[in-house]
Amino acid sequence: MKLPQNKQPRSCVLVTGGCGFIGTNYILREIERRNVKIVNLDKCAYSANPQNLAAAEKTDRYTLVQGDICDIDLMGDLLNDVRPAAIVHFAAESHVDRSISGPEIFVQTNMVGTSRLLEATRRHWSKLGAEEQSSFRFLHVSTDEVFGSLGADDPAFTEETPYAPNSPYSASKAASDHMVRAYHHTYGLPTLVTNCSNNYGPFQFPEKLIPLMIRNAMAGLKLPIYGDGLNVRDWLYVGDHCDAIATVLDRGRCGETYNIGGHAERTNRQVVETVCRLLDERAPLGHGKWYSDQVAFVTDRLGHDRRYAVNTEKIERELGWKPTVSFEQGMSETVQWYLDQRAWVSSVTTGEYRNWISRQYESLQTA
Ligand code: TYD
Repeated sequence: MKLPQNKQPRSCVLVTGGCGFIGTNYILREIERRNVKIVNLDKCAYSANPQNLAAAEKTDRYTLVQGDICDIDLMGDLLNDVRPAAIVHFAAESHVDRSISGPEIFVQTNMVGTSRLLEATRRHWSKLGAEEQSSFRFLHVSTDEVFGSLGADDPAFTEETPYAPNSPYSASKAASDHMVRAYHHTYGLPTLVTNCSNNYGPFQFPEKLIPLMIRNAMAGLKLPIYGDGLNVRDWLYVGDHCDAIATVLDRGRCGETYNIGGHAERTNRQVVETVCRLLDERAPLGHGKWYSDQVAFVTDRLGHDRRYAVNTEKIERELGWKPTVSFEQGMSETVQWYLDQRAWVSSVTTGEYRNWISRQYESLQTA
């Protein structure tokens, strides 16, 4: 039987790093909403959780391949087997604090890995027929941190803001963005780059600010705010981010970059206050105690960027995407998700996690 056109599985999409936070949300969304096949290439390192994708595994449209983007032969074989119509490249080391204590793995995964993936992709793409070549897409998921730090009154980052990365993490992502640009300019590879602001939502590994605060609050631990807590981030709900990626993949212009943000600038103090208020409402401590009693101002992060803010006019104007989930709504859903998923939280906070937390936080002085 021939399925109607819109029900036929599209040819396959190769996702890298799909067992991480944003990749997981993207795959679950795509499998649910579209009749698409997804092959997920993931190294399954410390922050990756193949179990996140149990719902996708129940379909016959999802496959996990364990491997490293640095392995160019594996990438070549995989591309030959899968013949994807598109690659969505999430795989990256992404935690700034880890990049400060050990930059090398960031160079390896983000810079070397992306350039090997690009080279394997170019070799594969150059052998395709003209039609397949022109419809193929390589979408590279990047960060607003490549633009550096803003002062309180500076205008938000646009796609034209010069790159000025400040941390080993953002420098490694900036380098990978430049390689993607070069592969488009030099070889004509049909690339797209997205630079997003700080994501939050279900499945985020509890080393990042919001899930760390929720987890520590629930465990009766300190809520460690770096420095004066007045650093500002723009917060983007992960579901909105995934919608934006799907939009750019469908309709973005090759060779272009698109900024993606949540229109939700908040200081870290405001973010932590929001977590505490939501937990006070939903899991009250009682006995006159409040979660905010656990807040501790600690030694600042080295080279801590003061403010990020993203101008999203380009994607709104050209592609008609804009964020739909307010910070208040997104935080309410996120805190509830972590309250409901205590088993997930304990399954990911393993020995490696606990080692990292003690290395990172035990030496920090409380103000
Ligand atoms: P993070 O989630 O690490 O994202 P990024 O550094 O990529 O923006 O941190 C978000 C903000 O929260 C950043 O200003 C650093 C701050 N922060 C704390 O104050 N305490 C913490 O324990 C962590 C992890 C982050």
